[in-house]
Amino acid sequence: MAKSALLKSSIVKKYWMALTGLFLCLFLAGHLAGNLQLIFGTNLQFNQYALFMTTNPAVKLLSYLTYISIIFHAIDGIMLTVQNKKARPIGYAKTDGSSSSFASRNMAVLGTVILVFIATHMVNFWAKMHFDKNMPLMVKEIEVQGNKQKFYVGTETGQYYPVDQVAKEGEKADPTTMMPKQFVIKNKTELYYSQADVKTADLYKDLHKLTVDFFKDAKYGLYFTIGYVLAMLALAFHLWHGFQSAFQSIGVNSSKFTPVIKFVGKAFAILVPLLFAIIPIFLHFKK
Ligand code: HEM
Repeated sequence: MAKSALLKSSIVKKYWMALTGLFLCLFLAGHLAGNLQLIFGTNLQFNQYALFMTTNPAVKLLSYLTYISIIFHAIDGIMLTVQNKKARPIGYAKTDGSSSSFASRNMAVLGTVILVFIATHMVNFWAKMHFDKNMPLMVKEIEVQGNKQKFYVGTETGQYYPVDQVAKEGEKADPTTMMPKQFVIKNKTELYYSQADVKTADLYKDLHKLTVDFFKDAKYGLYFTIGYVLAMLALAFHLWHGFQSAFQSIGVNSSKFTPVIKFVGKAFAILVPLLFAIIPIFLHFKK
């Protein structure tokens, strides 16, 4: 490719990387706000939030945009790195002191660490929430006439169903009991009357329990927690350079705005990964 064409394609790639990167920063802020409920919210609030995130059409659209942005950002990043290696010197349009920092020299490595993190993270949470037949349903213990009983929780206020009265889909009737169970679960979360085949409620999936159990796991919980903290360190370095670099790539570059963008970028790069990292630490050590 001619040098000018290479430069042009490199600038276009940087532009798209910047746009997808900034969109992913918005995703991170939203994801963090939701996840902080693991510290400050109740089980029910977190599961309500998870249900909203997986069913609201506008949020679903944003989720698809997120997946596309991650793929686009990663592919563009790999292509740019390869291109830059082949045809040096093509640096950022403007260089300053920060462009030779540890972060700026290692953006591709840091990005790869984050990509591996996102892939394993989605297998552990997102895929289970969306596709796993054995995803736990939310159960609440309530005291009834002095005895603690377990109830499945419906998505409408006040819907509680005794666990011992609910059969799993395809569960064989217990030959030792005379009474068949009153309800049966179908399609993972739908509760039906077992005799009339009438739907009576939608039950909450227990993403809260799944997340807490993951970080509290007796054998691997500590390793998962350390892994998350290290991934957040990589994210911090990636954002440290990436945030301000994105604004340069889309052409926002002035003596008035650049210092503000640099400050906001550095604050974002420290605060967001730090708060994300506190969540697994909190869950792992919580009694
Ligand atoms: C460290 C604390 C974090 C926790 C506890 C956490 C937890 C979760 C959970 C429980 C889900 C499943 C939600 C659902 O499917 O509705 C999820 C989804 C996801 N997480 Fe995280 N997360 C953390 C950090 C991150 C970070 C730092 C990133 C990106 C670098 C990230 C990227 C994603 C993505 C892309 C999804 C799929 C979102 C969607 O479907 O819209 N997470 N996370």
